[in-house]
Amino acid sequence: MQQVRGVEGILSLLTDRIDGEVMDAAGPQLKVISNYAVGYDNIDIAAARERGIAVGNTPGVLTEATADLAFALLMAAARRLAEGAAYIRAGKWKTWEPTTLLGADITGATLGIIGLGRIGKAVAKRAAGFEMRVLAHSPSATAADAASVGATLVSLDELLSQSDFVSLHVPLNDKTRHLINRDTLRKMKPTAILINTARGPVVDQNALYEALTQGTIAAAALDVTDPEPLPADHPLLDLPNVLVVPHIGSATVKTRERMAIMAADNLIAGVQGRPLPHAVTSG
Ligand code: DGY
Repeated sequence: MQQVRGVEGILSLLTDRIDGEVMDAAGPQLKVISNYAVGYDNIDIAAARERGIAVGNTPGVLTEATADLAFALLMAAARRLAEGAAYIRAGKWKTWEPTTLLGADITGATLGIIGLGRIGKAVAKRAAGFEMRVLAHSPSATAADAASVGATLVSLDELLSQSDFVSLHVPLNDKTRHLINRDTLRKMKPTAILINTARGPVVDQNALYEALTQGTIAAAALDVTDPEPLPADHPLLDLPNVLVVPHIGSATVKTRERMAIMAADNLIAGVQGRPLPHAVTSG
């Protein structure tokens, strides 16, 4: 709050909570908040709107990188890559044998995508290359939208009960917080794998821990957690069927450069009193 005092523009990271108090600490000259992320759950949009402050984000440029990571997590969890690497490092690789580290098939499996926006659709396109059956649940998508990426729109319950992999691609808001909870986890197959590259609080992590230890689902691969950073002694990290990476969905050199340019363009436009090239209009 000390650092924003008197500024006309704020360049925020997803780790900066920008609420009305921060906006007021900046002062009435604050014109723009430019978030270096596509997600903007860290910003109180209503408070910004009330104060006439424009908010920008970075849509589009991180779609492919994030979809790549979601698919990398899906494959890594299915084929137990982290466990395999740890197995060798622990000196356990003594011979080849038929039942070591058996995983799940990806080709021909059913993928359930929750949230069929840009990133959800990009994940669906990748699944086509693996001849997967793709189910999608998204209140805002149309059947035609889904069909354009080879997916079929279904209810949440249908998606959960039929999918071998469930991948989350929703923004974090009041409707999606703890969307994956004890009840929804129980609707999944005991062999299912959950992938989260959206936001940590979309999953009730205590319920996930319980589901993973009790065999309600088979495994989880998470790019996002609740909280972030996840403490190194968090119980989830003791589970062999959990793979966690540190919120790196958009972490490629080119993607982060594009995000930086987009965030700078938004910031400059806002400070100069022009419409933002990529303004947040809802939330
Ligand atoms: C975003 O942009 O919202 C990602 O979580 C980080 O790139």
